[in-house]
Amino acid sequence: MNAQPQRVEHQLTDKGYVPIYTTSVIEQPWSSYSATDHDVWAQLFRRQRELLIGRADGEFLCTQDAMGMGEDRIPKFDDLNRALRARTGWELIGVEGLLPELVFFEHLANKRFPVTWWIRKPEQLDYLSEPDLFHDLFGHVPLLMNPLFADYLQAYGQGGMRAHGFGAEALAQLTRLYWYTVEFGLIQNAEGLRIYGAGILSSKGESVHCLESLAPNRIGFDLERIMRTSFRIDTFQKTYFVIESFEQLMRATQVDFEPIYSRLAERPIIPAGNVLESDLPFHRGTGEGWLLDGDV
Ligand code: PHE
Ligand code: CO
Repeated sequence: MNAQPQRVEHQLTDKGYVPIYTTSVIEQPWSSYSATDHDVWAQLFRRQRELLIGRADGEFLCTQDAMGMGEDRIPKFDDLNRALRARTGWELIGVEGLLPELVFFEHLANKRFPVTWWIRKPEQLDYLSEPDLFHDLFGHVPLLMNPLFADYLQAYGQGGMRAHGFGAEALAQLTRLYWYTVEFGLIQNAEGLRIYGAGILSSKGESVHCLESLAPNRIGFDLERIMRTSFRIDTFQKTYFVIESFEQLMRATQVDFEPIYSRLAERPIIPAGNVLESDLPFHRGTGEGWLLDGDV
């Protein structure tokens, strides 16, 4: 028998009827992964590794090797944790899926990264509407070995706990920052334009699209601009923001966000595909194939 995620489907919450997961931390049920689960990991791993040579940020692929992530089997959290603890003091914890915001922030603030324990099915290799083990482990975990990025993520968690007290608008602004950096960020380094966002790193289609397609905008990182920009959850992004270094990300976010939240709350949200006069576009997208509605 395959182990199954413990979902409690369709509970009525303040966000309507949504699938809810148990928030408890669970031990990775490693021995109940089936041969199919390991094979899904192997196929995805092989495919992305090949695609990401010359596309992922410099150390990403070597870091995977160094941590002991390989294609032969789903990695054990315990093994990865040994490498993480030694390098940056982070640890992975197993979860059923997306967590309530405050619980998530609290984990990050304490250097715990929640990883979905279950992996997608063979018919979901190309697309899945929620994070699974492949996205979380393959995409997010290698960057936790980078001390600068690891500090950024911890500061983000602390900032999230604080923003919780400022209300829904502040949280929405902070979510946009996570989306356009941790999930869909690009970096312009010495080698060229590279991917560091986990949402891209775990996606076959978007790994190519984000760098090579003429459709999306590629715009220089601007904290307040990003915090006002809506995004897509169901299609490739219309806009990617490009950092120069993780130092830049740290520097830009080591300021007090409270006045920023209130200032930005007065200003209009920028639709996901718009380019502003003040933007420094690396590339202005053609907008080909964009759906007009559906920005969130
Ligand atoms: N500096 C932010 C604050 O004052 C917190 C933060 C840090 C947010 C890093 C995002 C990333 O709330
Ligand atoms: Co993610």
